[in-house]
Amino acid sequence: MRVFEVIKGRRSIRKFEDRSIEKEILQKLVEAGIWAPTGGNAQTWVFIIVTDRGRIQKIKAVSPGILGTPNALIVVCQDKELVYKKGGELGRDTLSIMDAAMASQNIMLQAYDEGLGFCPVLSFHKRGVQILLNLPERIVPELLISLGYPAESPKPPKRKFKEVYFFEEYKSTNGK
Ligand SMILES: Cc1cc2nc3c(=O)[nH]c(=O)nc-3n(C[C@H](O)[C@H](O)[C@H](O)COP(=O)(O)O)c2cc1C
Repeated sequence: MRVFEVIKGRRSIRKFEDRSIEKEILQKLVEAGIWAPTGGNAQTWVFIIVTDRGRIQKIKAVSPGILGTPNALIVVCQDKELVYKKGGELGRDTLSIMDAAMASQNIMLQAYDEGLGFCPVLSFHKRGVQILLNLPERIVPELLISLGYPAESPKPPKRKFKEVYFFEEYKSTNGK
């Protein structure tokens, strides 16, 4: 598939088939993640792949943003002690979030290419997820990616295009 086709075809999926995902595919998704760029080449992320149904259910119980019944989760985390050591406050508060987001997009685009459905989820209880995954306090989950074989093909939500870009400089349309 061409990259633009993948970028436009990717959708957030919230209904999944009851079918497990091979471990090798999940590992490949994380490998796609680690090829994302990182500020100062920090690579301070940690990825937890969760496939155990019971554990997924428990995580879902503290994550109102997880809809449907995913067969796997990839929890994209950052080691906040390490990012602070490497990049100070900028690293801890900004770069680490950017890096986690870039890795997550790589994971999702690769997942789309593998025929999987998935949804990024930010609505979850961080401390709850830390406890359920046995994460020390310094390893903070930044984003969950729910995964499974898709059982829906939603229409893409409309995008604004012409209204959101400018050449050379911003031009106000309402005087502000
Ligand atoms: C940072 C971020 C957090 C999100 N959190 C959730 C969430 O908690 N639950 C959910 O169902 N979708 C979540 N989404 C998915 C968005 O709702 C979705 O991307 C948006 O509606 C556009 O649809 P599309 O991804 O199909 O293009 C999140 C997306 C992003 C980028």
